[in-house]
Amino acid sequence: MPDKYQKFANSSLGKSLCSALGLPTPVPLERQGKASDTVIQGKVLLGAADKAELLPALAKTLCNSGVDLCRMATSETAGPIADAVTAVGGQSEAFDLQGETGTRFKGLVFDASGIASTGELRALHAFFSPVVRQVTSCGRIVVLGRPVAAAESPSQAAAMRALEGFVRSLAKEVGRKGITVQLIYVEKGAEALLASPLRFCLSSRSAYVSAQVITVGSAQENEVLDWQKPLSGKVALVTGASRGIGEAIAEILARDGATVVCLDIPAAAQTLEVVAASIKGKTLAVDITDDKAADTIADALAEIGGGVDIVVHNAGITRDKTLARMKPEWWDMVMDINLCSEERINDALLVRDLLRPGGRIVCVSSMSGIAGNFGQTNYAASKAGVIGYVQAMARPLAEKQITINAVAPGFIETQMTAAIPLLTREAGRRMNSLSQGGLPEDVAETIAFFASPASAGVNGNVIRVCGQSLLGA
Ligand SMILES: NC(=O)c1ccc[n+]([C@@H]2O[C@H](COP(=O)([O-])OP(=O)(O)OC[C@H]3O[C@@H](n4cnc5c(N)ncnc54)[C@H](O)[C@@H]3O)[C@@H](O)[C@H]2O)c1
Repeated sequence: MPDKYQKFANSSLGKSLCSALGLPTPVPLERQGKASDTVIQGKVLLGAADKAELLPALAKTLCNSGVDLCRMATSETAGPIADAVTAVGGQSEAFDLQGETGTRFKGLVFDASGIASTGELRALHAFFSPVVRQVTSCGRIVVLGRPVAAAESPSQAAAMRALEGFVRSLAKEVGRKGITVQLIYVEKGAEALLASPLRFCLSSRSAYVSAQVITVGSAQENEVLDWQKPLSGKVALVTGASRGIGEAIAEILARDGATVVCLDIPAAAQTLEVVAASIKGKTLAVDITDDKAADTIADALAEIGGGVDIVVHNAGITRDKTLARMKPEWWDMVMDINLCSEERINDALLVRDLLRPGGRIVCVSSMSGIAGNFGQTNYAASKAGVIGYVQAMARPLAEKQITINAVAPGFIETQMTAAIPLLTREAGRRMNSLSQGGLPEDVAETIAFFASPASAGVNGNVIRVCGQSLLGA
């Protein structure tokens, strides 16, 4: 759904005008649409630094995903890459840099886990510099390393942290072509849990996610038998599901196989019924600020599904005013809906053991909670609080085999952003590396990734769905 400027900029007149005026021409992003087994269509070039440790796990995921795999014919690590691929019964085509400058890649994957000191970072330049121009529109670039905290020397810690700066800068260089770049840190022992984040980063499900860092930790492995319907048999609760991002979340979780309980305020009951009916879901018309809301929700989930597997805290509001003019009730309302209700609902579910082992909690934060925003002290505080809550809960929940993560959307095309005055809206929409707003489904796809049984190693993460907004970290 391109916006008006994007449509014009991609017309033949618009293209020449935008180029003459130095204006961005936002590429129409390729999105997933329906559930699909195909992770990425086109050639993927796999590279690695010396002593790369993730090659067996990478080769397994890439080959199992049916990726059309290539490797550099002449690099020092060509042998280990070919061996890793052969060991899992796969094949990789040798790509000769000298002879095949016309080859185009849909993806580049680089295993930097073997880098032990800052001097070895040169391997990044050696791999990416000659081929980065050969990545096609809406391509995917993924760099993998080990978490900084686990480094064995200061030089290795510096090198692993350097990957972040590299990824964020490269994302800015290639974003105008709709290409995204992500970094995945894999803890030692968590290699078997790499498949879900790698598939997400390579697929069009991450169309509006760029320059993000995902950490994969150790956890009990859950085998996903059907990547098309990974949520089959799961019950999911989505708050604020009658419209906007919540509606898209409900639809995508249902697409992935879940039975969705759609919750919204009683005043939205009618539209909620329509959304739920379209996905064969259930409805729950409850105001989450009501004193008894948490118990009512817990009772309903106990009755509907004997418990719940996925809880998505999406309901949220803004009540913008500069702090000096902000009424205390606006402060309280925003804090209560956006943050405190999440704690109350989770507590009620956890006390009664209604969130089953393998459970997933996903909270919706905001870029405003990361970067701050004029007139949004209440909203930004609530959304930053969501991040603090997620990070604090990750460890205790891991003991119950439950994960908790957050998405932080940037500018998403919804009724909320349609109400922003034109010039501010246009600025918000363009100020990111992809020069366009995201769609509700972009947030929903990221939530579905967190919700997958295969994402057991992804816990306490915050992923921005913002096209690499130029604001904030
Ligand atoms: N749209 C964006 O660009 C954007 C950016 C960053 C974060 N977000 C966050 O994403 C989430 C969804 O945003 P949206 O744009 O779809 O908003 P929206 O206003 O379209 O939808 C929010 C939904 O939450 C429901 N809700 C509000 N208060 C409730 C309550 N007390 N009890 C139950 N339901 C309640 C509303 O009725 C509505 O259906 C929010 O948390 C928002 O803060 C949105």
